[in-house]
Amino acid sequence: MSRILVTGSADGLGRLTAEALLTHGHDIVVHARNARRAGTLAPLVDRGAELMVADLAVREEVLRLALELRGAEPLGVVIHNAGVWSGSAVMPVNIVAPYLLTALLPRPRRLVYLSSGSHYGGHPTTGGVDWRGHRAGSYEASKLFVTTLAAAVARRWPDVPSNAVDPGWVPTRMGGRNAPDDLDLGHQTQEWLATSDDPEALTTGGYWHHRERRQPHRSVNDEAFQDELVRVLADETGAALRG
Ligand SMILES: NC(=O)c1ccc[n+]([C@@H]2O[C@H](COP(=O)([O-])OP(=O)(O)OC[C@H]3O[C@@H](n4cnc5c(N)ncnc54)[C@H](OP(=O)(O)O)[C@@H]3O)[C@@H](O)[C@H]2O)c1
Repeated sequence: MSRILVTGSADGLGRLTAEALLTHGHDIVVHARNARRAGTLAPLVDRGAELMVADLAVREEVLRLALELRGAEPLGVVIHNAGVWSGSAVMPVNIVAPYLLTALLPRPRRLVYLSSGSHYGGHPTTGGVDWRGHRAGSYEASKLFVTTLAAAVARRWPDVPSNAVDPGWVPTRMGGRNAPDDLDLGHQTQEWLATSDDPEALTTGGYWHHRERRQPHRSVNDEAFQDELVRVLADETGAALRG
């Protein structure tokens, strides 16, 4: 049994992941952007989940969340699930918040980052990226960055399995009701990577789709690009990734 944070668990895959992990007896920390969205998590809180509230698009709120989590019982696993498809919050939510939480929280036993098949369309360049979200960001690039972050963490912290998951195009609010992939398969890989003792689930640096390891965009495993991304995010946020 492990204490597991699932970011963005008010809806979609994050909520389904949190519900399934709760059903399997894990200690779950659910997370919503604000008090109103937190209200929708009442059924999970009634079942024993702990609740955290922070808007991941707002840098100060991410820093406060990290501080609150540092003051609480350590997390065994963090599933960086929260994500947005378009608009100015893309970079802050999809890459800056996962980076900051990774850099500022004590090392957990496992890390899971939500990627996407869209990451193949991202440009592996950090120049000119608007990390603060003053203008609309590229979803494809944000997912390439977060997939690269998962691989960079795997390299730096070899004792902490750190993996990225493409959940498939599934029918959530983001995916749309006509999305063709299987909604259950869309969250099961995250749960497996977070909790299974299967030796495959304990490997690190993978890019997974439905429990199969796939080859990500070639820049993901380019150590120079990993180092550049981590350096740029450290400069941008003032938080260094140890190790
Ligand atoms: N669905 C797909 O087909 C698909 C495909 C590939 C990858 N993914 C990835 O899978 C992850 C989950 O996606 P989903 O399909 O479940 O999307 P979703 O149904 O739109 O849910 C996204 C979750 O993230 C939360 N979130 C968004 N912005 C936030 C913010 N500023 N602060 C705090 N929480 C925030 C949302 O909260 P609210 O409900 O309050 O907005 C919601 O709980 C994302 O990282 C996404 O990129 C999804």
